[in-house]
Amino acid sequence: MDSPPRPQIEAWLRYFDDLGLGPFYLDRAAAELPSVAPAAAEARRAPTTAKRNPPAMQPAPAPRAQDAALPVVPSLFDATPRVEGDSLGRIREDIGECKRCRLCEARNTIVFGDGNERAQLVFVGEGPGHDEDLQGLPFVGRAGKLLTQMIEAMGLRRENVYICNIVKCRPPGNRQPERDEVATCSPFLDRQLAAIHPRVIVCLGNVAAQTLLGTNKSISQFRGQWFEFRGSKLLATYHPAFLLRTPSAKSEVWTDLKKVMAELGLKPPKPKPRSA
Ligand code: URA
Repeated sequence: MDSPPRPQIEAWLRYFDDLGLGPFYLDRAAAELPSVAPAAAEARRAPTTAKRNPPAMQPAPAPRAQDAALPVVPSLFDATPRVEGDSLGRIREDIGECKRCRLCEARNTIVFGDGNERAQLVFVGEGPGHDEDLQGLPFVGRAGKLLTQMIEAMGLRRENVYICNIVKCRPPGNRQPERDEVATCSPFLDRQLAAIHPRVIVCLGNVAAQTLLGTNKSISQFRGQWFEFRGSKLLATYHPAFLLRTPSAKSEVWTDLKKVMAELGLKPPKPKPRSA
């Protein structure tokens, strides 16, 4: 078995170091990357998706009996009509040079989303910040770098997953998006999630979690719990920007990400303390 690439090992070590865990050495066998199993992944998807690129991640095991009991929460998204044969390209075209809400006034770029259209894992954040607004890509600033480390610590690369936001234009001064802005933008996110149909959606922070789950509860009351969202499993965890301000919460996020890894059949890297 090939050993993982050096940047990945470095990313794991950096992330564990951030979590305050270490020092480590990497157990080669435990650091195996997930293998690709196209046939099983194809079987899970609708026939219309069969000609897309190979799947990025190992398919998770068949649904388990207890999944049937996951809480299903009605949300804003329940009103969005399905679009037959939808694709990310078509959704982006439909958005156009959007002027549907006031966020268009100060934005530089629409930040549609980035990553693998066939991803089994989607991260949903709140809205673009300064760097994202300039580059047109989600999570490329400081919080984005931390998210990239988190993804790499899971044994994945950014290109394996899909990353998007509740709103696609930067709210001025990085304020939270208003309800009407979220309501205007969310049909497009809903279509993105339906087109990708990932196994797992991870909501990053309160705004994403409350919007997708249709709740006013604080994320601290339900982070790390599984929900059912339109045929995907959904889990909310803290936003990377919160982790930059509150590094002590990183261990809770890592606990949540390990649940996601288990759900996706990803092998956690097994670091061991260096012997004296
Ligand atoms: N914060 C977010 O919620 N989304 C981004 O794209 C960047 C920062």
